[in-house]
Amino acid sequence: MINRRRFIQGSAAAATIVSPLSALASDVLRLPRRPIPGTEDSLPVIGLGNSNAFRQGDVDTSKRIIRTLTDYGGSYIDCGGQSRFVVGNVVSSLDVAEDVFLGTYFTGADDANARAEAARLLEITGKPMLDLMHNYPEDAAPNWDTFRGWKDEGLTRYIGVSRHRKEAYPTMMEMMKTGTVDVLQVNYSPLETEAEDEILPLAMDKGVAVTINRPFINGRFFQVVSGHDVPEWAAEFDCESWAQFSLKFILSHPAVHCVLTETTNPRHAVDNIGAGFGRLPDEATRQRMVAHLRGLAG
Ligand SMILES: NC(=O)c1ccc[n+]([C@@H]2O[C@H](COP(=O)([O-])OP(=O)(O)OC[C@H]3O[C@@H](n4cnc5c(N)ncnc54)[C@H](OP(=O)(O)O)[C@@H]3O)[C@@H](O)[C@H]2O)c1
Repeated sequence: MINRRRFIQGSAAAATIVSPLSALASDVLRLPRRPIPGTEDSLPVIGLGNSNAFRQGDVDTSKRIIRTLTDYGGSYIDCGGQSRFVVGNVVSSLDVAEDVFLGTYFTGADDANARAEAARLLEITGKPMLDLMHNYPEDAAPNWDTFRGWKDEGLTRYIGVSRHRKEAYPTMMEMMKTGTVDVLQVNYSPLETEAEDEILPLAMDKGVAVTINRPFINGRFFQVVSGHDVPEWAAEFDCESWAQFSLKFILSHPAVHCVLTETTNPRHAVDNIGAGFGRLPDEATRQRMVAHLRGLAG
């Protein structure tokens, strides 16, 4: 098992001085990775969501967050619109473009524009092909042949479908049943467990890699737990913060490959990465976690 004590020592240093944290903590510590089914690839278990820092073009903060991720062997960054170019420029300037896996949103309904944006991103990052082109089912489902064409011609390694609410599950499941979806992104957390019912089991059945959005319900999770201590029994699965409480719950589901955590705060990034190390809750503990949070949510 990864030496969690070393992560904690390193992350304590990182909380004080964020940018040189690589030298202190991450020389040997690398996030665990989970294999993408049917490939030689794998994804580290913690990724970054489309941060406000990316959206606002805050290059300094974007650099600190991305550097923190990659220092610990993290790779997946979810980004769309103009923020993909902010991320592209940052990973280029940090010389980590080869280390990151960009999950980028493209509109299948506008093939010409998608190709132009893809070309621009490839030029910025210097990568030979994109990692993942995906979009909401509203666009991806009716234009799936276009997505498949992008993959077939080598513009991208993977294609996928992404949404954050259960109303989208039926369409995403129909797409997965075709056997052509490589990566599913869906919402899942101890306060939003609906994905457990059908879509996560289907992803396992179909060999689809799964990334998870809304691990903190876009921040609402922290309102629910505000004023409450993390229960002592969370130490049994090496959990030290409320953020890790949610992330470790998510990572303990067998369908999940990577959780996307959105933050503008490098200290939060270190906290979130910490969830990737150490033990995970077993099934009985998972149920206890859900019950505990539902109790707090009232
Ligand atoms: N495809 C889709 O339909 C879809 C939909 C929703 C989301 N997503 C993707 O999923 C990503 C994450 O989902 P989300 O947007 O719902 O955000 P989220 O990750 O559930 O929550 C983000 C919020 O949590 C806070 N936070 C993060 N880490 C923290 C920590 N360790 N301690 C305390 N607070 C912390 C952040 O504040 P600070 O900035 O202060 O840390 C922010 O307010 C998005 O960025 C996006 O890439 C995709």
